Parts: sequence; structure tokens; C-alpha cells
Amino acid sequence: MKRVKYFFFFFILLAAAGLFFVESFLKSEPITLAQGEEKMIKLPSPVLAGEISLEEAIEKRRSVRTYKDEALTLEEVSNLLWAASGITADWGGRAAPSAGALYPLDVYLVSGEVEGLTAGIYRYLPESHALVVTVEGDRRSALHAASLLQDSVKKAPVSIALCAEYGRITPRYRDRAKRYTKIEVGHIGQNIYLQAESLGLATVAIGAFKDGAVQKVLAVEQDPLYIMPIGRKQ
Ligand SMILES: Cc1cc2nc3c(=O)[nH]c(=O)nc-3n(C[C@H](O)[C@H](O)[C@H](O)COP(=O)(O)O)c2cc1C
Repeated sequence: MKRVKYFFFFFILLAAAGLFFVESFLKSEPITLAQGEEKMIKLPSPVLAGEISLEEAIEKRRSVRTYKDEALTLEEVSNLLWAASGITADWGGRAAPSAGALYPLDVYLVSGEVEGLTAGIYRYLPESHALVVTVEGDRRSALHAASLLQDSVKKAPVSIALCAEYGRITPRYRDRAKRYTKIEVGHIGQNIYLQAESLGLATVAIGAFKDGAVQKVLAVEQDPLYIMPIGRKQ
């Protein structure tokens, strides 16, 4: 009888250890969602009246690499994404110019600490001013590693990644397509810099990273061109 008791106790212990192992394994692995599984998160409308003038924003703008250890609000995220690629004209024109209005750049939010938004990677949908989650879980450490361990990426509550889908622009612009896309990333990047400044936030445009590693973190095949960590000014 004693033997049976010991066996039972040992069995329970083994099952508990097994459950713990499976749970921690699942937690450590990012969950990438297939296209059909994506759920849309509507963003609040962007606020179109800033606290400072455009000229002040241009004058004050600097690349900043350290931030307060504070979450961003969903309103701030909404304005940042709108400034990057939001729709600003009835016909679909966006905040930043694009050759032939073909918009070859997609905007991703790598969210760690945003009030009311679960940590994860989201693709911005300009037409509906919404986000779809593409990878669940906090991927900032992985993005930091892929960005050659640049501290700014580790410290920021969010990063915006700008990725090129050349297929949208190559049929029309052929051998000019990559050139145009790389010019466009500068327009979007500058809008993000100025919007951050206007909101009392700060950012830095990061071009030094391992392309393949960033693609893995974002779960994309597109060409990552900029990563912009964003946080509250210290
Ligand atoms: C194409 C490009 C790539 C950049 N890459 C990085 C980078 O990998 N890491 C970084 O900390 N800053 C990066 N920067 C930011 C520059 O270092 C910064 O713009 C420069 O020092 C001038 O400072 P300012 O932006 O405050 O005027 C990059 C800027 C550009 C335009």
C-alpha cells in the first residue's frame, strides 16, 4: 500500500513538473498569427492640434536615445502612426509623400508598454487607422539583439519599424523602385521625429541592424529600413 502511495506521489510530482515545463516553453516562444487569425484594434482618432508650432518642433528635434521608464498612451501611439502613414486625403493620400502614391512601406509597432495595448507586434492599417496583431508577446529584447544591442531599442516602451514591400512599386518604377522607397522612408521617419517632438516624446532613427534578424523578430519577409524607438523625454 505504501508503495502505491509513493508511486502516486511521484506521478503527481512528475505531471506538475511536466506542466510547468510546457507552460514556460510556451511563454518563451513568440506566437505568430496567420493572416486569418489577426484581430483588428481600432485606434483613437489622431489629435490634429499640437502643443508647439511646426517651427518649434523642427528646431527642437534631436535624436534621443534614453527615455523615461513610462508607458505611452494609445492616443500618443495613434498620433505617431498617423504621422507616419495615416490617411490625410479623401482619395487615400497619406501623411508622407510616395512616388505614384503606391506606398511601398508598411509600418509596424513593436509594443512593450502602451496603456491599453497588450505587448506584441502590430501592423498599422492606414485605411482604417487600426492595428492588427501579428506576433504576440513582448519582443523588445529580441529587437534589441537584432539592432546590434543598441540601448535605445531596449529602453523604449515602443519601437516603430518601417519595412519595404518593393513588389508594390517595382512594376511601375522598375530600377528606380528601391531608390524611391528608400527616399520615402526618410519622409516617414522625419514625420515620426516631428510628431514625437510635438507630443513631448523622443526618438532616434536607427539604420544599423541585422536585416535577417529583424525580419525574424517582425515575422516579415519585407526589407526593414528603419527602426525608431520612441519614449517619453527624460
Ligand atoms: C540613415 C540614418 C541612420 C542612422 N542610424 C542610427 C543608428 O543606427 N543608431 C543611432 O543611435 N543613431 C542613428 N542615426 C541617428 C544619427 O546618429 C543622428 O541623426 C545624428 O547624430 C544627428 O543628430 P540629430 O538627429 O540629433 O540631429 C541614424 C540617422 C540616419 C539619418
